[in-house]
Order: sequence, then C-alpha cells, then structure tokens
Amino acid sequence: MLRNFLLAAAGCALLVGAAHAQTMAKDTKGTSDERAAAMVAQMTQDEKLILVKGYFSTDFPPTRFVAPAEGRAGSAGYVPGVPRLGIPAQWQADAGVGVASQGGAKSKRPHTALPSGLALAASWDPEVAFAGGRMIGSEARADGFNVQLAGGVNLAREPRNGRNFEYTGEDPLLAGTIAGHAIAGIQSNHMISTMKHYAFNDQETDRNAGNVTIDEAAGRESDLLAFKIALEKGNPGSVMCAYNKFRGDHACESDYLLGQVLRKDWGWQGYVMSDWGAAHSVQKAALAGLDQESGFGLHPDDNFGKGLGDALADGSVSKARLDEMVTRILRSMFEHGLVDDVARETGEIDFEANKAISRKAAEAGMVLLKNDGDILPLAGAKTILVIGGHADKGVLSGGGSSQVYPGDGPLGGNAVPGIAPTFWPGPVVYYPSAPLAELKKQLPDAAIAYLDGSDRTGLAELAAKADVVIVFATQWASESIDVKMALDGEQDALIAEMARANPKTVVVLETAGPVKMPWNGNVAAILEAWLPGSGGGEAIANVLTGKVNPSGRLPVSFPADESQLPYPGEPRKGEIAYTEGAAVGYKWLDRNRLTPLYPFGYGLSYTRFTTDALNLDQDDDGGLSAEVTVGNIGEREGAQVVQIYAAHEGWEAPRRLAGFAKVSLKPGESKSVDIAIDPRLLAKWDVETHGWVIERGQYSLAAQTDALAEGEAVGFSLDALLYYPANWSMPKP
Ligand code: BGC
Repeated sequence: MLRNFLLAAAGCALLVGAAHAQTMAKDTKGTSDERAAAMVAQMTQDEKLILVKGYFSTDFPPTRFVAPAEGRAGSAGYVPGVPRLGIPAQWQADAGVGVASQGGAKSKRPHTALPSGLALAASWDPEVAFAGGRMIGSEARADGFNVQLAGGVNLAREPRNGRNFEYTGEDPLLAGTIAGHAIAGIQSNHMISTMKHYAFNDQETDRNAGNVTIDEAAGRESDLLAFKIALEKGNPGSVMCAYNKFRGDHACESDYLLGQVLRKDWGWQGYVMSDWGAAHSVQKAALAGLDQESGFGLHPDDNFGKGLGDALADGSVSKARLDEMVTRILRSMFEHGLVDDVARETGEIDFEANKAISRKAAEAGMVLLKNDGDILPLAGAKTILVIGGHADKGVLSGGGSSQVYPGDGPLGGNAVPGIAPTFWPGPVVYYPSAPLAELKKQLPDAAIAYLDGSDRTGLAELAAKADVVIVFATQWASESIDVKMALDGEQDALIAEMARANPKTVVVLETAGPVKMPWNGNVAAILEAWLPGSGGGEAIANVLTGKVNPSGRLPVSFPADESQLPYPGEPRKGEIAYTEGAAVGYKWLDRNRLTPLYPFGYGLSYTRFTTDALNLDQDDDGGLSAEVTVGNIGEREGAQVVQIYAAHEGWEAPRRLAGFAKVSLKPGESKSVDIAIDPRLLAKWDVETHGWVIERGQYSLAAQTDALAEGEAVGFSLDALLYYPANWSMPKP
C-alpha cells in the first residue's frame, strides 16, 4: 500500500516537474501527503539527506559540534531547510513545561514556565492542559521555533524516576489524555510537537543501556496505551524514540515499537525523530522506522549523515526508504502549518498574560492532602511563621533539558542562584514568584515572619508561639538522575520538630514526585503544590488563603515507603523486567492490598461534595457511558473530579480508571455529567487477534473519590465478546 502510494506520488511529481521547472513548497496544492510527495519528487538526494539529520544545539554544552549559524539561540536542535524549494528549517526547542532555552543565560529572552507535567495532570482537566500547551507553543513561535520537544507521556511506573515531573502520571487514561491535550495546544500555533520518549523509558538510571522487557499484553495495556491515547488526542507531528532498549533493541532501532506498533497497528503517519544521540545505527534504525536522527554529534557515528549516504550507495537502505522518511517529515511540516506560516523570530510575548495562564494551571493542579480541623484556608491567624523552601524568594523547578530559564528580563532571573548542582543536571532554578510576599499581600492583618530553617536553634520555641506554622519543603529532580522518594536534605526532621512544637503546622510541598512523609500524622495540613511554575508563589498563596479552592487530585500514588514498590531496591540497571506488568501505581497497590500514604485520585477541597449512584447508558453504537450527578453541599464554590473505576475479575488489578470529568459547582449547585467509558479499559489486549477483547462476564463501574476508595458499584454483564482493533480510537465528543 505504502509502496503504491510512493509510486503514485513519484508519478504525479514527474508530471508536476514537467509542467513547472520548480514548485516552491508553499505553492504546492492538495493534501499534506500530496504536497509532501510533490516536494520529494523535486529534491536531490543531497537535499533529502539534509532533512533527516538534526544538528545539536549551538548552546548545549559541550559546543564541540555546532549547528550551522541559522540555528536559533537557545535551541535544542536544528534541521536545515532547503531554500531552493522554500522548505523551511526545523528549529527545535525543548520541552513540555515551557520553552527551555538551552544555554540558559545565553538565550535571548526569558520564557514562562508552566507547572510540572505532574501538576498539569493533577488538574485532571484537559482544557487546562490545552491552554498550557497553547501558551508555551505561542512563546516558542514568538522566538522562531517550530518544533517543540514536548509531550512526555512515560508512565510514572518508577516513582523515583527523575523525569516524572515532565510526565503526566501513572495511569494510561489520565496520562494520555493530559499529554495529548497539551500537544494539541502546542500545535495550535502552527508548529509540530513531539510525543516522547517512546517507549518504556520510565527511569533515568542506566537510561542508555537498560533493557526493558514486559509481557506483550501488559505492555499494550499500560505504557503503550498511554502513548496511543496521547496520539489520538494530540495528533503529534513527530514521535521521539527513547534512549533505552526494549526487548534487546534500542528503542530507535525497534522494529516492534516503530514498525509494528506505531505504523502498522496505530496507522500513525508522522515522522519519528531520535532522542538526542539515541540513533545507534544506520541500516537497523532506518529499516526499523527511524526517520530523523537528532543531536548529531552526540553519537560518535555520523549515522544519518555520511552513514546513510553510504548505505544508499551500497543498497543496504533503499532510496524508497529515504523518500519515505522525507515524505513523513514534510507531511507533518505541511500538516501543522510550518510551511505556510514560516516561524520568524519576531513575535511578541505577553509575559503577564502567560504567567496568569501558568498560575491558573498551578492552582488547578494543587492537591490538598490533609486539612485537619479545617485549618486551611488561613483565616483569623494573627501570627504566622513561614519556614524554609526559599519561600521568601520563589518556587522550585525541575532540571535537565526541560529546564525553563526565567532569564534576566521581565520574569526576573533565578531567584536562588548557586545551589548545587550548578551545572548539569543542574542548575537548580527557583522562579521569582515568592509565596511569602503573596501571603503578606493577601493577609495584611497578620504578622508574617520568615526563617529559612537552616539554623534550628530556638526555632521550636518561635514555632510554638505562632498561631500557624507553614513549612515549605522541596524535592528537586532532573533529567539523567533518579531521586529518592523523599524530601531533600534534613527537611523531614525540620517538619517533625515544627509539628511537635505546634500542632497547627501546615506543610506546603514543592516536589517533583511522590515523597514519604514520616511526619504525616503529626501535621495539621498538607498541600502538594508540585513544581508550580512561573506564577507558583501566587498560586500557593491563593490556595492557602482560600482565594482559590484546591481541586487537584493525585496523578500518582504516594506509597507509604519503598517496600510498597514492585522494586523496593534502587532503580535497576541492565535487565529491567517489568514483572508487575500493567499493574502500575495504584493497580499494584490495590492488587497487593497495600495502603499507601495517599492513593492516585486523592485530593480534598474546602467544600464538600455528594455523588449519586451512577446510571449506565449505552448509545446506538454500543458505547458505554456513566451518568453521575454531583452536588456541592458546602459553602464555597469548588470543583470535583468524578472518577469512574471499572472492576472485573482476571485483570492485572481489581480496578482501572475508565473515565473522568472535572465539574465546577457553586455552593448548593448540582450537575449531572455523562462520562464516556473507554472500552479499552474494560478490555484485555488479545495477542491472538491482535486487538482489544472485552470478554464475557460480570463487570462493574463505580464513581470513586480515589483509586482505592469505596464507591457504589453498578454491575452489568456481557454475554458476547466485544472486539476493538489495535488502531481503534475513542470517538471525539
Ligand atoms: C532528552 C530529550 C530532549 C533532548 C533535546 C535529551 O537529553 O532526553 O527529552 O528533548 O535531549 O534537548
């Protein structure tokens, strides 16, 4: 079929070539496929080879391999265009939480950082994810970038993965939905977003050599399902294959991942780019389905440069395959507007407006974990002692290639420079949005003091005298390292001491991911603010004072300790067998009857909600939906996340999230929502028929307040098998 298409395309281009000596890219007509084919037909082999090799950024250390001068400041990578034919360059910028100017200070201007990917996922709100994506895409375009290296959807299978903050949590439906909407938001700016790191790149330890294995059905029902859902919601122009190995092959050489799953099973038509330096061969990678090598210079061999030229000459890679690579790249460039609306470095950025978008996303994702005696929102406290976490200066962000630098301009620079590591995987960056200043502004009648907590002498006495103590605590994480499931340094001891001194101790967590909380039982309140982005300080203050009612729910479980993980020891090296299969996160806990500190889906509000028993509906096409009525019976406006969990014997775990919706309610209001159930979450992957099979038997659905909570289950039975093919997508609402 593909071969026929290429032949037809070549034929059509010959005709075009005969009529016009040369057609510029923007003047081509027809579908993206037709336009791509018309260009390929006019290109020389040398021109085609230009498009399949991406240069390493000029600003990345080390600068041994430099991109041509047309690469843009702060860029992660650069693929030259073909000016003769009007094919623009691909200017690539990291990453998922904002435009991450590599080289930091060298970049031309600052950028707005969204809260972390986990915070976006904690909003459980696709619109928040879309708005965030649209915002960062607009900043990328304003600086002349047209490919955003975003869309991280690796499951938080290993809670200590140092990159979990870039991703969207442990559940395939939530992670895929949020990442997909963020991708769609980015691409609404006439640019391409990647979806990455495909696939099973769930830890940083041994990330270049670790070999992941998983049972076929389990892989489809977990990590691959998350990617598939992100693909159908976001339609990314490109997929970035990962560093790790999968079943013995590097992900960028994996015929299974690239050829079988992505192309044959899912029918995806964009182009695969390698992660930076993750292309390890010419022939194997090219034949498996890698279309573009990125980060040339990071890998010692010039794979898709001279190497591919040689392979074409000796026939080990066919010219048709090169045409296919180039067609896919050009197709995505046409499809997403890169040709018709060429990126220029002349855009304006409205930093105030963008910071407000980031702040709202942070607010939507904050999770109130504990609130004994309704100590929050802060009301009536005359004396407040704020301790630690650099709350007087700003809020923490995550490190590595996704690091968004606040620059020195309108966003004010790194609020706490000099914290180690100051070079890769650092620097540690705090955005200058100080919770303390915002608290003072919002609570003018309270006496608010700040101490950094480094000297604990006499601190307990001071804490005892305050009406309320608020301890800010942090966990930094970064690409290329895994982290402990714990707060950094001595912060646990500090919190424990403050809680002993004053029972009215509130803890605000700025963590990259789940942490243990040995002091959990002794503090009055806990607010998980994640890495909250450029407007994070204000967002935290807004939630603490009640200007905003927290409505986030955990997108990852917080285990009580490492003994509750499938692999309690350090993250593994070498052979990384996912013997837990699809039982990731809450599914593992549920299956093993383990009680975590806080489960997936959990989160409190300043108001109270009721949830009526759900009604099951089936539409004419057999699609199932759950109708649920939720009410707000408290005094404040708030938002409830209705979570529908399905249960069936014989799955990897007792329950699976099968649908969700976030509903805003005024006091006294009630609303009814229809939540479509994704049938793949009632199904098992069937190896024989290569698709999703919902087997006969008993099922139930329940609206729950978290993954492990009780809910009134509504049972139903199926007396005939239902089958959904591998490329099945949830219909658009
Ligand atoms: C990361 C990618 C990133 C790329 C370019 C790699 O180290 O894994 O996520 O997009 O660098 O900066």
